[in-house]
Amino acid sequence: MGIKFDDPVRERLVSMMRVRQEEMTAAELLAAVIWLQKGMPWTFYRDLARHLWDEIRHALFGQAALEAEGYDWHSRPQYTSDYDVNIEKMPGTQYAWLSIGIEEGAMKRPGKVGEFEFCRDEAKHPLMAQFQDYDWADEVTHAAFGRTWTPELFGEDLGYIREVAKHELDHFWGEVRKAHEVAAAEGKV
Ligand SMILES: [Fe+2]
Ligand SMILES: [Fe+2]
Repeated sequence: MGIKFDDPVRERLVSMMRVRQEEMTAAELLAAVIWLQKGMPWTFYRDLARHLWDEIRHALFGQAALEAEGYDWHSRPQYTSDYDVNIEKMPGTQYAWLSIGIEEGAMKRPGKVGEFEFCRDEAKHPLMAQFQDYDWADEVTHAAFGRTWTPELFGEDLGYIREVAKHELDHFWGEVRKAHEVAAAEGKV
C-alpha cells in the first residue's frame, strides 16, 4: 500500500492487487474462529474451512498479480488488522464482522461488482479482472454462509446481527484510522 502513481487508474489497480495479497489477515481471523468456537455442527466447520481456503486463494491472487507486474510485495509491512483488531472479540462477533459486516456489505454497489468492472473496463487488466470475478463469486458464498451461521451463533435474527456487525465495523475502522495516524506520524506511510 501507499505507492503513489501519476495515473490514478494504475494506482487503484495496484492498490487492489495489494489488498488481495493482504487477505491472509482474513484467513487468520477465520482460523481463530474455527479454533475458538466450540460445539457447532460439523457443517459449520466445513463451511468455514471452505471460507478460509478462499481467503488464502485471494491472497495468492494478489501475490500472483503483484509478481507479474514486478512488485516486491515483501518490501512493505503486511496489513494484519482484520485479525489484530478482532481477535479480542468473541468468535461469533468476529465472524459476524467478516461475513455480514464486510462480505454481505460488499454485495451492494459499487462493492465487489464495482471492483470487477473497474479491472475489466477501466484498467483493462485481464488477469486482475479474472481474479476479481472469482473474488466476487466467493464473496457471494461467504455472505450466504454468514446468513446461515450467525443466527445459530447468536440465537438472534439477522436484523440484530446486522446491527452488531455495523457496531463492530465502526469500531474496526476507528482502530484502523488510529493505527494509520500513528504510522503517518512515524513516517511509515
Ligand atoms: Fe476475500
Ligand atoms: Fe471473503
